[in-house]
Amino acid sequence: MGPERHIKELIGSRGPIPFSRFVEEALYHPETGYYSTGKPFRGRGDFYTGPSLHPVFGWTMARFLVSRGIPGLILEVGPGKGFLASDILDYLSSREPDTYREIRYLILEKSPGLRTQQEKLLSLHSERVEWIDSLPQSFNGVILANEVLDAFGFDRFLRQKTGWSMMMVDIGDPFAWADGPAREDALPFLPSEAPEGFIYDLSVEALSFLSACASSLDSGYILVVDYGYPRSVILSSYPRGTLTCYYKHTVSDDPFERIGEQDITYFLDWDIFRETALRSGLREEIFASQAEFLMSAGIHQVLSEMETAQSSLEIMKARLAAKNLLLTFKNYRVVVWGRHDR
Ligand SMILES: C[S@@+](CC[C@H](N)C(=O)[O-])C[C@H]1O[C@@H](n2cnc3c(N)ncnc32)[C@H](O)[C@@H]1O
Repeated sequence: MGPERHIKELIGSRGPIPFSRFVEEALYHPETGYYSTGKPFRGRGDFYTGPSLHPVFGWTMARFLVSRGIPGLILEVGPGKGFLASDILDYLSSREPDTYREIRYLILEKSPGLRTQQEKLLSLHSERVEWIDSLPQSFNGVILANEVLDAFGFDRFLRQKTGWSMMMVDIGDPFAWADGPAREDALPFLPSEAPEGFIYDLSVEALSFLSACASSLDSGYILVVDYGYPRSVILSSYPRGTLTCYYKHTVSDDPFERIGEQDITYFLDWDIFRETALRSGLREEIFASQAEFLMSAGIHQVLSEMETAQSSLEIMKARLAAKNLLLTFKNYRVVVWGRHDR
């Protein structure tokens, strides 16, 4: 039994729920939620992320961290199975052993099931890694979030003649949309220029999380990798919203099917996230496509370094993955927001 029954009970007891609550239950219900069961990272999964494709992604990230003068403290949020952490730590232990010995790699993971998988994958680095339950009060180092902001619960806002309403989830077959008042805390972020009938997907929780990371950071930077568009592209090309569901590498726009079996996500409106970061006192240091970022971080050098140590089959696999990372992750951006003066 998936999260569906639980969501029905919830609606039965309190009436229609915000879509963000529906997503929260579908993805993170402690027993049956999509992420809690570890399903996204089993077998071929439902989607690829950079780190799950090949270690060359994490090795290049490690090279970037080293090039910036690696801090003693790294905090990764939402590592999924733990590939990025494992590849960064592997790279540092073989290429930068002195740095490796000094490193503390903190992990903040919401899903207990995934945390267990991370513990297994990272057992070789157990002396370096520590799991934490909330953001530290103050932090000097790097906060990494690869495809995490898109994994927060999000709401769907519908532009009416007189203003915005919010799409709620009611019982149907199995569920149906219902209209409700827009949540107050979202109003400042909604695009005033959207025409009547426009659906705008927004995660207030993801924005708040970014602000919380900024407050936690005393000095260092936040490195975010995610998919999204500038607001102008969302307004011109996504009148029905950016909600996307992934199941076995196919895409749909129906969040009410395969509940607990499929991923439910949205594309970030970069304008809003960038504004939020700046308002939280961060300075934008990099905003680049994933391809530009990986090239300037030295993915080619990482591949050449491999050539002395690996078999030709492994080298071919890495080259193929690098090509994929550079050419197919088209809507991905890498952003570095820093703070150096508190
Ligand atoms: C799409 S997966 C990405 C996994 C991994 N970073 C990767 O790129 O392969 C999203 C991850 O973020 C985690 N997550 C979502 N919201 C979170 C939160 N508020 N705090 C910590 N982890 C969170 C999920 O449990 C999952 O591990």
